[in-house]
Amino acid sequence: MKKLNVAVVGATGMVGRTFLKVLEEENLPVENYYLFASARSAGSKVQFMGKEYTIEELNENSFDRGIDIALFSAGGSISEKFAPIAASKGCVVVDNSSAWRMNSEVPLVVPEVNPEDIKWNKGIIANPNCSTIQAMVALKPLDEKYKIKRIVYSTYQAVSGAGMGGWNDLENGLKGEAPKKFPHPIANNCLPHIDVFLPNGYTKEEMKMIEETRKILGRQDIKITATTVRVPVFNSHSESINVEFENPFELSELVDVLKNAPGIVVEDDTANNVYPMAINATGSNDTYVGRIRRDESVENGVNLWVVADNIRKGAAANAVQIAKKLIEYMND
Ligand code: A2P
Repeated sequence: MKKLNVAVVGATGMVGRTFLKVLEEENLPVENYYLFASARSAGSKVQFMGKEYTIEELNENSFDRGIDIALFSAGGSISEKFAPIAASKGCVVVDNSSAWRMNSEVPLVVPEVNPEDIKWNKGIIANPNCSTIQAMVALKPLDEKYKIKRIVYSTYQAVSGAGMGGWNDLENGLKGEAPKKFPHPIANNCLPHIDVFLPNGYTKEEMKMIEETRKILGRQDIKITATTVRVPVFNSHSESINVEFENPFELSELVDVLKNAPGIVVEDDTANNVYPMAINATGSNDTYVGRIRRDESVENGVNLWVVADNIRKGAAANAVQIAKKLIEYMND
């Protein structure tokens, strides 16, 4: 197996640092790693894979060194500019920003759901939005079995999803300081406002969930609505997902479908107060599903509570899993 050169762009950020952690846990066939960030952190040192690495400033020539795969998480404008440059030099970019997700030339991938889409990449593969990824892990096996008709998403999203700035706003807000990242205090508060507001009254985060779900499941016909809320939790997103199916189901069979699906841990024992919680999901690459109950207000409906580490499964781990599959396909 050929050993590869792998770059991490945004290596000093919230997701970037978790890329490094997940890469240390995985055994990828890598010859050299290159770590990039902005001029602000160029020259700083990080311990990675038992060695000391120097952060380099990202520029137009960064990919001139035979880099095979680059994991990007440095924001949308960096991805917009540098992902095509990297791709033009023969590198495959796995991009965590929203810049390329809805481009029809770019596969949008959750490895448990649509790994085959990796094969038609033209140099950029998009990592979906964190809230979408965990929902897809839970909904794909149910769509296959019962055919989804409609979804209502309500999310309870952690501040780590807004990067270091979001984390600092909660930490400092709990000490009484004013917010810098969010428009209002997040400590002891809930903000029904993630990303910008759009002319239709939805936020961009809500529309990302709607559009990305349709693209990943390959089901443009599914009716979807979403309300996304930032809550004062440091890490791991929780979601209430209400789903209506075309086909009838037995609840016990539906639970078994979830139990047997890849990447899912069912935690549903209400008699003993067992259900997925953010504090337990943090640090794991799995998606936790519980509170599984029939929606008695419609014919074929179910309610789910879905929790995952938004920085791991929602970002870094999903991207590294994509890279792993990509390497598998390269060696086929
Ligand atoms: P830096 O630490 O040098 O600013 P977060 O989302 O947690 O705020 O992280 C954003 C990441 O994107 C950081 O690693 C940050 O690096 C990186 N970044 C921001 N602007 C640039 C840029 N112009 N070029 C390269 N990396 C950037």
